[in-house]
Amino acid sequence: MTEEISRLKKEKNAIIMAHYYVADEIQDIADFVGDSFFLAKKATETDADIIVLCGVRFMGESAKILNPTKKVLIPEIAADCPMAHMATTDGIAEIRDEYDDLAVVCYVNSTADLKAASDVCVTSANALKIVKNLPQKNIYFIPDQNLAHFIADQLPEKHFIFNNGFCHVHNSISLDSLKKTRALKPDAPVLVHPECKPEVVAEADFVGSTSGIIKYATESDQKEFIVATELGVMHELKKRNPDKTFYPAGPMQICPNMKKLTLEKLLHVLKYEDSEITLPENLMKDAKAPMEEMLRLAK
Ligand code: 13P
Ligand code: SF4
Repeated sequence: MTEEISRLKKEKNAIIMAHYYVADEIQDIADFVGDSFFLAKKATETDADIIVLCGVRFMGESAKILNPTKKVLIPEIAADCPMAHMATTDGIAEIRDEYDDLAVVCYVNSTADLKAASDVCVTSANALKIVKNLPQKNIYFIPDQNLAHFIADQLPEKHFIFNNGFCHVHNSISLDSLKKTRALKPDAPVLVHPECKPEVVAEADFVGSTSGIIKYATESDQKEFIVATELGVMHELKKRNPDKTFYPAGPMQICPNMKKLTLEKLLHVLKYEDSEITLPENLMKDAKAPMEEMLRLAK
């Protein structure tokens, strides 16, 4: 299968990009593996005719929004991030009516509709930097309440309006299970994704995006780490650090949507090009502005 995928990729001038949460064998065959920010940025730099985005739907949509003329495929069109739907454009309109001097900040884990109704997009890798430098005082941060609290705690000069979205995978990592793991490995630094609950974030030695977590562990002199994010990151963590050991903070750190992607589905989509990301022209145009604003402000 991997040979057939490589052959089709060359024949069709396609590029395969994968997020750290997809299956190990997909990460191994991808041209690029990264966090959501890296994947969005990389998508703007490729001259391939086809981008196969191995991740959930919003990641494919981000690539398409930034490259409307390219064909963007995802191996499983039903792989969707539930948090991407946990805000509404009506809710945004209400907050806009209520507040002056407001920026609507949209985490990329969101639908194209939500992006289009926002002022700027962010990812976990750049949210702090971008929000800190916005001129507006009032920040309506959608959809993730946990990431919003993590940023808000570091920016007391801003007034945050919170939305109640969350990632069910990260939100289910409990302080109790983290403490139990920590009791077994008291010297291991705790590496936490900011989609985790504030009480879990408060226990962290490092908080960052998937790429940030991998970078931190790779550069650290420590030999053991406790990891509070989806377990797909273990593949890259172990690959880059064969002499180090990584322990999950809790028992259930699996994103069922990321795990819908298989090598078979990747081969199928490359062959038949049948699960393409398509969005209405106007929507793409409206969603592109906040995505490009993110790329500009993250520099
Ligand atoms: P990153 O941008 O940190 O890779 O996170 C994406 C994601 O979906 C986290 O659940
Ligand atoms: Fe969405 Fe959570 Fe899965 Fe990330 S881990 S894609 S936020 S459900």
